[in-house]
Amino acid sequence: MISIKNLGFRYEGGERNALSEINIDIAEGDFLGIIGSSGAGKSTLMYAVNGVIPHHFPGDFYGEVRINGLDTVDSPLEALAREAGSVFQDIDGQMVASVVEDELLFGLENFGIPKEEIEGRLEGALAAAGISGLRYREISSLSGGQKQKVAIAAITALRPPVIVLDEPTGELDPQSSRKIFEYLKELNEKHGITIIVVEQKIMLLCEFVKRLAVMDSGSLIRLGAVGEVLQAPEVLEKAGVNIPRVTTLGNRLKEKGLYSGDLPHDLPCAEAMMRKVLSEAGHA
Ligand SMILES: Nc1ncnc2c1ncn2[C@@H]1O[C@H](COP(=O)(O)OP(=O)(O)OP(=O)(O)O)[C@@H](O)[C@H]1O
Ligand SMILES: [Mg+2]
Repeated sequence: MISIKNLGFRYEGGERNALSEINIDIAEGDFLGIIGSSGAGKSTLMYAVNGVIPHHFPGDFYGEVRINGLDTVDSPLEALAREAGSVFQDIDGQMVASVVEDELLFGLENFGIPKEEIEGRLEGALAAAGISGLRYREISSLSGGQKQKVAIAAITALRPPVIVLDEPTGELDPQSSRKIFEYLKELNEKHGITIIVVEQKIMLLCEFVKRLAVMDSGSLIRLGAVGEVLQAPEVLEKAGVNIPRVTTLGNRLKEKGLYSGDLPHDLPCAEAMMRKVLSEAGHA
């Protein structure tokens, strides 16, 4: 459904390519997490998926990005926005209304959602983002984290086929971050929405996403199932990416010859690893 072929991009005046030779196919219903150090090209890749590149940022664009068959270079942004809704890293630049409720209504009306469905979608999205109490608040009076939740609610209320989120929990506490990921998971599983999310909180990402893409200096250096990508922690460390503590623990046990299985990427896998280590040591 999303196909990225030999994608390269250099911002106008940029010294080097922000993206080089990126190839990714993203099937309908995928939940893809993207990690990489600062400047690796994560936001640029998100802009290429939703068409902001090349429509808004001038530069040299190579290769091809198609979303549901639409070529992002030839298709107008309005058409692309129907296929992929975006939550940008720069939240302030994204808001169009001054009151929270209007921010959601703007999208719902523009998308032509039937009138009788609008209230339900609006209430549902506010509740899922944990901001029902902010419905009538001025957006300018909100904290960064509250604005992030408004942006997420405004896009998820539209239920486009694809949702692209660039560090959506950057300003949120751990509990709110988890709640947002649980909501994304529900949208992915119940409504079949394809989710692409850039996220620094690696443990959270590894717990929720199906696949992980790792970027370094504008290149895609790894792409695969979460467990698979984490089997090479040294590659991630070299790319400046934090790895989950449970993976580090597994790696240490491996180095000491105490464990020989797959490295864990979440708590259930870590528990299974510890059971194995303990039973082999004769403690269980
Ligand atoms: N508008 C721009 N004009 C010129 N160069 C840019 C522009 N935006 C980003 N770049 C450059 O492109 C490269 C990739 O930047 P990008 O913002 O995509 O990285 P990122 O992985 O999202 O980083 P972060 O984790 O800090 O958000 C960097 O070298 C950056 O300096
Ligand atoms: Mg970024």
